[in-house]
Amino acid sequence: MESDTGFHMTPDEFRQRGREVVDWIADYYERVESLPVLSRAKPGEIRASLPESAPQDGEPFDAMLQDVEKLILPGITHWQSPNFFAYFPSNNSFPSILGDLLSSGLGVQGMLWATSPACTELETHVLDWLVEMVGLPEKFSSRGAGGGVIQDTASSSSLCAMLAARERATNYVSNERGCDGRLVVYASSQVHSWIQKAATIAGIGRANVRHVDVDERFAMRPDALAAQIERDRKAGLVPFFVCASVGTTSSNAIDPVRAIGEICREQGIWLHIDAAMSGTAALCPEFRWIHDGVELADSYCFNPHKWMFTNFDCDCFYVADRAALIKTLSVLPEYLRNKATESGAVFDYRDWHIPLGRRFRALKLWFVIRHYGVNGLRHHVRRHVELAQQFASWVREDKNFELAAPAPLNLVCFRHRGGDAVNQAIMDRLNQSGDLYLTHTRLNDRLTLRMSIGQTQTELRHVERAWSRIKEEAAASAPSLGSA
Ligand SMILES: Cc1ncc(COP(=O)(O)O)c(C=O)c1O
Repeated sequence: MESDTGFHMTPDEFRQRGREVVDWIADYYERVESLPVLSRAKPGEIRASLPESAPQDGEPFDAMLQDVEKLILPGITHWQSPNFFAYFPSNNSFPSILGDLLSSGLGVQGMLWATSPACTELETHVLDWLVEMVGLPEKFSSRGAGGGVIQDTASSSSLCAMLAARERATNYVSNERGCDGRLVVYASSQVHSWIQKAATIAGIGRANVRHVDVDERFAMRPDALAAQIERDRKAGLVPFFVCASVGTTSSNAIDPVRAIGEICREQGIWLHIDAAMSGTAALCPEFRWIHDGVELADSYCFNPHKWMFTNFDCDCFYVADRAALIKTLSVLPEYLRNKATESGAVFDYRDWHIPLGRRFRALKLWFVIRHYGVNGLRHHVRRHVELAQQFASWVREDKNFELAAPAPLNLVCFRHRGGDAVNQAIMDRLNQSGDLYLTHTRLNDRLTLRMSIGQTQTELRHVERAWSRIKEEAAASAPSLGSA
């Protein structure tokens, strides 16, 4: 019904409904463990339950919240369940949710420093904190020639790294005239699929992506990289970008960054490091070896929205030379001109990524870091790694199973010795049961199960139960290969 405020929700109603929503979320976290982890919705089922057309007249809030429960929840795969062991985590925390809510409340669009100085300056500051927190070299901090920015995903920030590298390699000519088909990028055969998309979007072409051989640990072989670069140079091509993965998606392999970096230095090639999930481990000094050689990199990214208790989206992207990135991406139309930009004294983050507009994502990251403190974050990361190592030891001790790759951190790749069909059956049965959710990869052309441990609420009892359910389904899917 129309009132003095038109059709808007009043502040008083917002207060009341806001409390209800926060209660709903808190209740959700208390019960999420009991919900089937993988949604059982059939294709089209959720849409079919929704009205054909939008309502002509506004509806009461109660009805909306009830429909979330009734219509939406069945179509949710519960990423925040402690029994979610699929893909890589996309974990979360209450301080993060509250920070995000404040960001929504402020409704800031932070494309320019001038459009909300706090949005830019808090981001710059928190990203500088993180340089120290995960032991990145000082050159990535904004105090020198570098700096960090929050992007939506590792795919986007890695694309930006490739674009800046392309411009550096072509002396900013390809931005004007396009590419000539001679530029070549390199990554291991295990690199995440973002590189294919990025090469397409950046005009490099998929045929110019070299997938370098890996060793028995699925990490890039520097000798194979050097040989490929040499072959390409002899063929008149222009190697310009190497991506080293610190924690591949498939098996969490850690590429030898130092050896790769030395080749890049020698060859004048941009080195980007994709540490999307595993970068968070470097909060703990004992895992910081994953960053050995990172000072040789030109750019680096990791996703607090994977393992650092910060809700999606939040990727932290760093460059050693921000001028190269800004020169690559900056376009200044008249309507964005302003005194602060012209003074040269501020960052305008619109020049650091693809979109113009941007949310105030630094708030949630700031809340997470302040709530947990470095020690709190370390505690939980260590706990996840311990749980994964515990799980790996059970696999190692069981005659029916084997580890399929080293498990340096919180991902365990394993398989039943009965072959692909058995592993597929185990996974399907587990996922259909709703008790837990795990996904697979192929390593050495064999189907491999991945146990990825990083959900905020995952404890020993969840991992113990997962292992016992895995063994149960293995017993139902395959004859035992001997006693454990
Ligand atoms: C190593 C690695 N790089 C990149 C990505 C892509 O992440 P995003 O969704 O942030 O683009 C992933 C996703 O799991 C990943 O594991």
